[in-house]
Amino acid sequence: MQPLRVGIIGLGNISGIYFENLKKYSATEIVAVADIDADRAASVAEKHGIAKSLTPQQLVEDSEVELVLNLTIPGAHYSVQKLAVENGKHVYTEKPLTAERAEAAEILELAAKNGVRVGGAPDTFLGGGHQACREAIAQGLIGDVIGSHCFMLCHGHESWHPAPEFYYKKGGGPMFDMGPYYLTALVNMIGPIRRVTGSTRVTFPTRTITSQPKSGTVIDVEVPTHVAGIMDFANGAVGEITTSFDVWHSMVPPILIYGSEGSLAVPDPNGFGGEPKIRLRGESEWRDLPVEFGFTGNARGVGVLDMAYAIRNGVDHRASGELAFHVLDVMHAIHESSDAGRHVEIASKPAQPAIMARDQYSDLI
Ligand SMILES: NC(=O)c1ccc[n+]([C@@H]2O[C@H](COP(=O)([O-])OP(=O)(O)OC[C@H]3O[C@@H](n4cnc5c(N)ncnc54)[C@H](O)[C@@H]3O)[C@@H](O)[C@H]2O)c1
Repeated sequence: MQPLRVGIIGLGNISGIYFENLKKYSATEIVAVADIDADRAASVAEKHGIAKSLTPQQLVEDSEVELVLNLTIPGAHYSVQKLAVENGKHVYTEKPLTAERAEAAEILELAAKNGVRVGGAPDTFLGGGHQACREAIAQGLIGDVIGSHCFMLCHGHESWHPAPEFYYKKGGGPMFDMGPYYLTALVNMIGPIRRVTGSTRVTFPTRTITSQPKSGTVIDVEVPTHVAGIMDFANGAVGEITTSFDVWHSMVPPILIYGSEGSLAVPDPNGFGGEPKIRLRGESEWRDLPVEFGFTGNARGVGVLDMAYAIRNGVDHRASGELAFHVLDVMHAIHESSDAGRHVEIASKPAQPAIMARDQYSDLI
């Protein structure tokens, strides 16, 4: 197949792994880069041997670019996607899809009108560890899903990220930052969520950066940093999720799924591989669930590969805008529920992404 020609906007911390993987995949070709910081764009283009270092506007207008890969900060996700779809480009955006629901809805509508596709991170659910769990549940190994527990507990990112301010501003916080990995993983395995309730708090009203180069800078915290939600899935399962930037230490696993016939311990959804474990009724110990799917290393960008293949072959892509919108919808609803003191119904209902084949895209990497 002809590679899909990709232009990347936003050349910060996370962009390196996308360069590494998209260059490896024969279905994607990076033809242009852009950043609000023109010097950064020029040096990244030189480093990776990309012919075109452009402004974001020039990149979306460039006739060679078919898909815009939006790796900007959350606060810019909406404007960059809008620029892309208005200029007739497919777009794939790092998480979260946008800060606000209405913005994401507008992007999906505009894209549909302009005949282009929207995709969104995370794509870790396409990794081998999660695909093995997705298949096990679909095959009924643990019976009917009763519920799940998810925990993402840490003390924030100001100790390592060079520019961590955005984690504490609108569009940031532990749920909007890390929730997409967990919620996307859950929707992939269990299906869409129909109703939520939540409680949130801010523990530390300011954060002091300890990473370089901004060590000593104080950030005003503008979003909840400890967020707990309960989710009713469309299939009747009841899930619980806690995400926090306020916790120093914990011993809880990332995701457990409970079924009528047994339980599944799901690997960290911020990775692609991991070692899923299963323990059925009557079994005295947990045992490994074999992982026979590909993409078990750091495969960030496999969602773009899947989208490139889908565009060229006229099939649905898995890390879809509808899925990312649903996850955004759920994250907002958990915060709204806390503010309003009541359950919030979820209107969006994406299709569960199709399971990958065991050798999916082995011919394209
Ligand atoms: N850093 C990580 O480990 C990580 C992991 C997974 C996902 N992400 C996600 O990736 C995205 C980027 O994160 P990052 O850590 O690379 O951030 P970063 O701050 O390191 O990089 C962002 C880049 O976008 C550019 N930018 C900002 N606004 C822009 C605009 N309007 N137009 C063009 N360029 C603009 C900045 O100049 C910068 O080069 C975020 O959505 C984040 O949630 C980051």
